[in-house]
Amino acid sequence: MPIRVENKTISIETKNTLYQMKIDDTGILRHLWYGQKTNTDMGYLLDYPDVGFSGNPYDAGENRRYSLDTIPQEYSSYGNGDYRITALSVLNPDGSQAVDLRYINHKIYKGKYKIPGLPAVYADDDEADTLEIYLIDKCTNVQVILKYGVIDKWDIITRSAVICNHSYDLIKIKNASSFCLDLPHGEWEWIHFHGRHNEERIVERTGIIHGIQESSSIRGASSHQQNPSAILCEKNCDEDHGGCIGAALMYSGSFKTRIERDQLNQTRMIMGINNEQFEWTLNHGEKFYTPEVILSYSSNGFSKLSQNFHNIIRNNVCRGTYKLAERPVLINNWEATYFDFNSDKLYEIAKTASQLGIDMLVMDDGWFGNRDNDMSGLGDWTVNENKLRGSLAELTNKITKLGMKFGIWFEPEMVSEDSALYRTHPEWVIKIPGRNPVRSRYQLVLDMTRKDVREYLYKSISNVLNSADISYVKWDMNRSICDWYSAGLTAERMGEIQHRYVLGLYELLERLTTDFPDVLFEGCSGGGGRFDAGMLYYCLQIWCSDDTDAYERTKIQYGTSFFYPISAVGSHVSAVPNHQTGRITPLDTRAAVAMAGSFGYELDLNSLTEKEKAEVKEQIKEFKKNRKLIHNGTYYRLSDPINDEYAAWEFVSDDKTEMLVYGVVFRTKPNSLRCVLKLRGLLQDAEYRIEGDDRIYTGRALMEGGILLPATSGDYCTIKLHITVNDKK
Ligand code: GLA
Repeated sequence: MPIRVENKTISIETKNTLYQMKIDDTGILRHLWYGQKTNTDMGYLLDYPDVGFSGNPYDAGENRRYSLDTIPQEYSSYGNGDYRITALSVLNPDGSQAVDLRYINHKIYKGKYKIPGLPAVYADDDEADTLEIYLIDKCTNVQVILKYGVIDKWDIITRSAVICNHSYDLIKIKNASSFCLDLPHGEWEWIHFHGRHNEERIVERTGIIHGIQESSSIRGASSHQQNPSAILCEKNCDEDHGGCIGAALMYSGSFKTRIERDQLNQTRMIMGINNEQFEWTLNHGEKFYTPEVILSYSSNGFSKLSQNFHNIIRNNVCRGTYKLAERPVLINNWEATYFDFNSDKLYEIAKTASQLGIDMLVMDDGWFGNRDNDMSGLGDWTVNENKLRGSLAELTNKITKLGMKFGIWFEPEMVSEDSALYRTHPEWVIKIPGRNPVRSRYQLVLDMTRKDVREYLYKSISNVLNSADISYVKWDMNRSICDWYSAGLTAERMGEIQHRYVLGLYELLERLTTDFPDVLFEGCSGGGGRFDAGMLYYCLQIWCSDDTDAYERTKIQYGTSFFYPISAVGSHVSAVPNHQTGRITPLDTRAAVAMAGSFGYELDLNSLTEKEKAEVKEQIKEFKKNRKLIHNGTYYRLSDPINDEYAAWEFVSDDKTEMLVYGVVFRTKPNSLRCVLKLRGLLQDAEYRIEGDDRIYTGRALMEGGILLPATSGDYCTIKLHITVNDKK
């Protein structure tokens, strides 16, 4: 059992890491350590001075060196003398705002806890353990259960908290974070992933200043602008060296990550639901569940950390028939036709696609209601047979006869004012009475907190899915939310609306993915505006960005790879000049970049020359040959495309006998040395061959010396290497 309790010290051990805490004499649950395994009680590292203006709990007696403002804690709370950022804040019935949590008991059991209504890591009983620690505020009887899930083999610890109101009055939760992590020693840096529409998850690494820094979303979705994930790393940390801690929140709504460096140079990280505009009423006997956060520590840099997250998300977060199955290569008609299509046009694309080896046609936005542009139709999820020139079943029959599968686009959470749904149910939108709503892409947002809205959506989506042979759904969400108000909630409860929206979304997704287990769901939000571990519980892949430019995608996919597995990254070859940037990149390069994901095409295949079609056919063959290694292999970043002159990445088989290296050299320079690329993850003493090269290299040579990249001519040249162990010895 990786969870041990000895002399009030609680140790959680995974394959390579130790997480430790201690119940002290006053019952405060202190944090001791998160890092490498040490086989030692790490409490010896903690010795605190009497810090002026840092008060002492009453029961510390005359001990002025004991202050909740300085000591590391597992779940810090507001109002008890800790002036740093805190994980929990409660408004008590008497108007006071203090919580003082003390240990009562704990429970350890095999298997992984679940969270009602929220996505969470799942695991078989023999691959996970759970620790529950019960804390109570003796004055109010508010109880907190801290939950720790341990997936030992991948160095993963999950955390989540349950707030239980055992008092006889109602309380209001002002803030309930998923976790708090105190790092008493060390110079840490912070990595977060920021961006905007068409440029998501750009890596930013900064020092941590004294005071509070934050990355958050108040958009109702996890957002393009900030991702609900963060890394704390040692100053010298790089891909292969140094300590780093990753945290990924399994939540798709407004979130907040806060990091504080305190007066003693200690670092605290807190992550969870964004508490701005948040207030949750808890009646006697009720419980509030925070979303789960997935944590991992690596003492060997970012590669290992990312691999831990890839493993847990691919195997223990994603679900459904397609989870580990080979993902279909798809052709999506959006950039090929936008709103201007009918069955004949789609069929012509599908016919060519099937000849080239593509597995699935996805019909994007514009097939329903009255929708020839983005000003109308959302909410009316009935097939526009006039536009399609026939029924959906007729179309899917024709497509499946080609040997292809069929997929379809929805944007369930949205409604156009010009739609039958809005005309019938104007009260179903999120909008403040007496005020005009904020429009975005001309659309409004449905109130997902309402059962009748969810019921309508379930019925209309399942009717479509039952009406034809549909194997895939693209679940889009194309605006940020504001005007938060629901006619279904009282004024006292309005602070619950944002979280209730996410709970409503998850409930609907759970119902549909359960009832249609063989349908592959792909998430989307104007590309990657809701790319988080919460959505990946329901959707196996997420359209990574609306920016399909191969050069831009190297940066976006680089940032995405820190937490999210390659199979989760929706990635397509599109036309040139690229529709977002006007850039022209070679077809070969576009495919190399798109293959680092769940691969597909998004262009009018019939506008390609015969030579290009032949090239596409070869690309598809290549992806199908390699997709097991690409999706199941160990992923390494070989460059930092934001700062380096090239992008490169590598997939390594489990037994390290086969590798694929892909990438792009951004620009060719005259009179310059060829770039050297150092590989990772090989067996040092094994001998390897590179396809098309007669030489034999040791693993050590390829990793320490590297290889010379081919001489390039022109810009955005592809890097492509297939390396296998030399079995001709
Ligand atoms: C969003 C998506 C695109 C496409 C359009 C359709 O922008 O990210 O891929 O589906 O909506 O309107």
